[in-house]
Amino acid sequence: MAKIISTHSFRGGTGKSNTTANLSVLVARAGNRVGVIDTDIQSPGIHVIFQLPESRVEHALNDYLYGKCAIEEAAYDVTDAAIGAADPTDGRPRVFLIPSSVNVGEIGKVLKEGYDVAKLNDGFQRLITDLKLDYLFIDTHPGVNEETLLSIAISDKLILVMRPDSQDFQGTAVTAELARRLEIPEMLILINKVPPNMDVVQLRERVEQAYGAEVVAMLPMNYEIVRLASSFDSEIELFKDGVAVNGKSIIGVMMLAAECGSSIVIRADGTDAEQAVEAITQLVAGGFGEP
Ligand SMILES: Nc1ncnc2c1ncn2[C@@H]1O[C@H](COP(=O)(O)OP(=O)(O)OP(=O)(O)O)[C@@H](O)[C@H]1O
Ligand SMILES: [Mg+2]
Repeated sequence: MAKIISTHSFRGGTGKSNTTANLSVLVARAGNRVGVIDTDIQSPGIHVIFQLPESRVEHALNDYLYGKCAIEEAAYDVTDAAIGAADPTDGRPRVFLIPSSVNVGEIGKVLKEGYDVAKLNDGFQRLITDLKLDYLFIDTHPGVNEETLLSIAISDKLILVMRPDSQDFQGTAVTAELARRLEIPEMLILINKVPPNMDVVQLRERVEQAYGAEVVAMLPMNYEIVRLASSFDSEIELFKDGVAVNGKSIIGVMMLAAECGSSIVIRADGTDAEQAVEAITQLVAGGFGEP
């Protein structure tokens, strides 16, 4: 039985797409067939993290929703970009991405005309069967709308992503209450963009008490490595224990570099590759600019 995991936040920009992408990669690496669907039709973005170029996208989720294609025709195998040189045996691991369209007309059409949300649910089930998925990850639009309700209602696990600020505290309470009413089997909280010097023990206690759900991770606010990597033209990849991440994806980098004292290999390809490697080496050696 495939597991459906959706990631939500009440407000935008909390880190849902990065969380979804990185979790899906970790789960795939454990030897699973994983699907990732971008239901953030109004402001799609997860395809960027998976480096799926617009030119490769013949059909997007929107085409399926308007009856122009079968859902599996909008699924792209992004295993290479997601887990590097992994060699799938028995069809595992595999990562498939179902992107939403970035075409302005297509986005406008959804906003103006809406679509049949039940079709989205049929699409999830069809993807699970057709692609023989072990896991389906659903990346969502912030706030509460019909897709939110649907994806919460059908998920085995809900990951609520929040920042530790008062607007997010209030908003997350709304989503958590909704999830409870929809009787979600498991709800987990990820606190992201935690500022330095915050009392994380107290933060965890406060959040767990307020929402009655476990805080699974607290990730620090850290612009340093992405700002640095993004300032170079070269493609940058970081490797640890044979695992690769995009040096321009912040949560990927932080998850990879989570343990102190581990070693990382940096590969950069481009005109300024040498400078990029040198600058990143210095940053990693200096503990990511963290106090
Ligand atoms: N821990 C972090 N520290 C610094 N920047 C971060 C962190 N986590 C995510 N970001 C950055 O915040 C921005 C938003 O991240 P992401 O797109 O994952 O959020 P989102 O919740 O999916 O946003 P949206 O609601 O717009 O879909 C990105 O630029 C990302 O690189
Ligand atoms: Mg997003």
